[in-house]
Amino acid sequence: MSVTIIQDLAFGDCGKGKVSHFLAQTHDIGLRFNGGPNAGHTIMWGSHKIVTHMLPATALLGKPSYLVPGVLVDPERLAKEVEELKKLKINTDLFWVDYRCPVILEEHRIRDQETGQKVGTTGSGIGPCLADQMNRVGLRYHQINNQPLQSLDTIQLIRWYLNSGRSILCEGAQGHFLDIWHGTYPYVTSSLCTTGAVCTNAGIPPQKIDRVVGVFKAYMTRVGNGPFLTEDKSFLAEKISLVGQEIGATTGRKRRIGWLDLMSLIEACQFNGVTELVITKADVLNNFNKVLLCDNHLGWEGNKTPHYIEFDGWKNLQDIKFFRFIEFIEKTTKIPISFISTGPRTEEMIERK
Ligand code: IMP
Ligand code: MG
Repeated sequence: MSVTIIQDLAFGDCGKGKVSHFLAQTHDIGLRFNGGPNAGHTIMWGSHKIVTHMLPATALLGKPSYLVPGVLVDPERLAKEVEELKKLKINTDLFWVDYRCPVILEEHRIRDQETGQKVGTTGSGIGPCLADQMNRVGLRYHQINNQPLQSLDTIQLIRWYLNSGRSILCEGAQGHFLDIWHGTYPYVTSSLCTTGAVCTNAGIPPQKIDRVVGVFKAYMTRVGNGPFLTEDKSFLAEKISLVGQEIGATTGRKRRIGWLDLMSLIEACQFNGVTELVITKADVLNNFNKVLLCDNHLGWEGNKTPHYIEFDGWKNLQDIKFFRFIEFIEKTTKIPISFISTGPRTEEMIERK
């Protein structure tokens, strides 16, 4: 028996799709426990490139895959995704949606596109749909006709799996600083984006959680509006944007670019109980002369500036200079980096012993 959570430690888009697909191979079942079709998890393996918005990565392996309460379901988007997987000859019989999941309707998307502009939402209807849920007037999955996937009490099923010794992969969406309570309010999404949501939404008790895999990029990005202390607008950011193809997977918007902020990384690790780290997209910084890392925030609330330390750039991810960078991160977070992602494809992953 084991429960693993995949948690983004910043503003989303750290490569969770790839990491989830990699870890899905060693887990029996998978679930999405937060967010909705605003998520865009890009997975590249073999000759395929797939962006999932609703289903967890275990679905690509045909393993039992669930959407638990707290995941907002857009039936049209879900139907499209299921069709796409069927075309790849993936058996979708073992995919289920909890009967309590709130349903996103056309009117939610329209309202979101009007009211979400200040925040710069994805326009997927997340805020208005959750508002209806909180007002207790929202539609739930079991009430709709033409369900793309069967409706079920996933909580009972997950408990059964837990008690029969299976391993469960909980794939988080968005990122810590987009959380409705702990993010950069009001520039946040409307759902829960921290590991606690696995307990509250998937009904998995805290003491059953074994691993919290915190995923972060070697630099940072943010789509939509809101504070971003280490944001960079120089030619270096432009280069990162280009090499890293930093374009939103859901909306096609250009992502804002910045340097890695260790202070926020430490906060997210502590908050979410991260037990190991995965660094992604460090290969994007190959052949940079220097790489900056923010190790302190100077000033006071509302008027903070980042303090940077400068690292020598690395030629490739075998370069000793890269190891100086990640060893510094391990030393300051006090958490081991167990995997290094070396490229966009699922198999491009190095395990560190
Ligand atoms: P919403 O979730 O569509 O309401 O958007 C609220 C904020 O969260 C906006 O800044 C979005 O760009 C951001 N956001 C929502 N989902 C994601 C995601 O999966 N990755 C990155 N940013 C996201
Ligand atoms: Mg994304």
